[in-house]
Amino acid sequence: MMMPLRSHTADRARAGRAAVLAGAGCWLPPGVVTNADLAARLDTSDEWIRSRTGIASRHIAGPGTATSDLAVEAGRRALKSSGDSQVDAVVLATTTPDRLCPATAPEIASRLGLSGCAAFDVAAVCTGFLYGLATAAGLIAAGTADRVLLIGADTYSTIIDPEDRTTSVIFADGAGAVVLRAGTPDEQGAIGPVVLGSDGEHAELIQIPAGGARQRSSGLPPEPGDEFFHMRGRETYRCAVEWLVASSRAAVEAAGWRIGDVDRVVAHQANARILDAVAERLGLPCERHLSNIERVGNTGAASIPVLLAEASQAGELRPGQRVLLTAFGGGLTWGAATLVWPELDPS
Ligand code: UT7
Repeated sequence: MMMPLRSHTADRARAGRAAVLAGAGCWLPPGVVTNADLAARLDTSDEWIRSRTGIASRHIAGPGTATSDLAVEAGRRALKSSGDSQVDAVVLATTTPDRLCPATAPEIASRLGLSGCAAFDVAAVCTGFLYGLATAAGLIAAGTADRVLLIGADTYSTIIDPEDRTTSVIFADGAGAVVLRAGTPDEQGAIGPVVLGSDGEHAELIQIPAGGARQRSSGLPPEPGDEFFHMRGRETYRCAVEWLVASSRAAVEAAGWRIGDVDRVVAHQANARILDAVAERLGLPCERHLSNIERVGNTGAASIPVLLAEASQAGELRPGQRVLLTAFGGGLTWGAATLVWPELDPS
């Protein structure tokens, strides 16, 4: 099922200006759920979860906390790290908007004191941050915006069936954000070509069957459980490895790098075994792959920006390092991008 991978190299070169990373921040809700907590109420075990996913614990937002609440905290930290409190656009990547309508980004913008700026959501499930990155970079390249706050935030706890052991053990809550500013393609922090792709023929692998126009237009009430997030794990796993590897190779090539040039890989934290398989197929040593999945789980659109912010604060991402971002998610969707890590203020 090979599909063409498209990069935005040509557009970027034409525009003559690039989006440059200027700040990063993240927020994880304080509530922690361990594998033992899950094993106490589901037919699973710490041993199964650790060996099959690499996850030991995850952060879960409590009752009354929605995606915008996490996103505002992450956005505030990213703005602080960037040293500037104003932006021209807020882009939110999420699968768990506060409401089906309207988008959540305008409310986030208002709560951050950014009322009046452009604000909208991007829906690409776990690839949302990379689709948002391409969108934000495009706004900057076109001159529509000089500064963009891009947030990836998800509260999977609001859509996971608490009885479903497949999804309960993997998915978690969190938010990560970056600020992008207008600059030039040769600066440290300039976002390189973004490679994106999709395969809607496999839309049913990851879905919430009820609540959208398809179910509502049927005139029938939803089936019990259809309001929850469903994932066909084994098939998704195979597609994830394939597309994380293919998009990574394509983004590295579009940047004019070789795979061996990559100093750090920041991949969507889907499952530690998926990350190991990707590392092996890319042929890069394990120490170049950053990971927080053991403590954070799979936080969907928040996964990459949370890892970026944490790794930046911990000194695991250092100025001058060549960084590869890659993600895969429902849709199906996938994407990858490159940048040379810039000097960032801790948020
Ligand atoms: O975020 C982007 C999209 N998501 C992903 O990329 C995630 C992709 N998929 C996965 O990470 C993995 O497929 C899972 C972690 C969801 C499942 O792991 P798996 O190794 O693929 O397990 P499986 O679905 O093949 O199931 C193996 C066995 C089954 O039992 P039988 O049929 O062999 O007797 C399952 O019923 O494990 C069983 N099982 C569990 N056992 C204990 C499934 N979930 C659990 C569980 N605890 N939580």
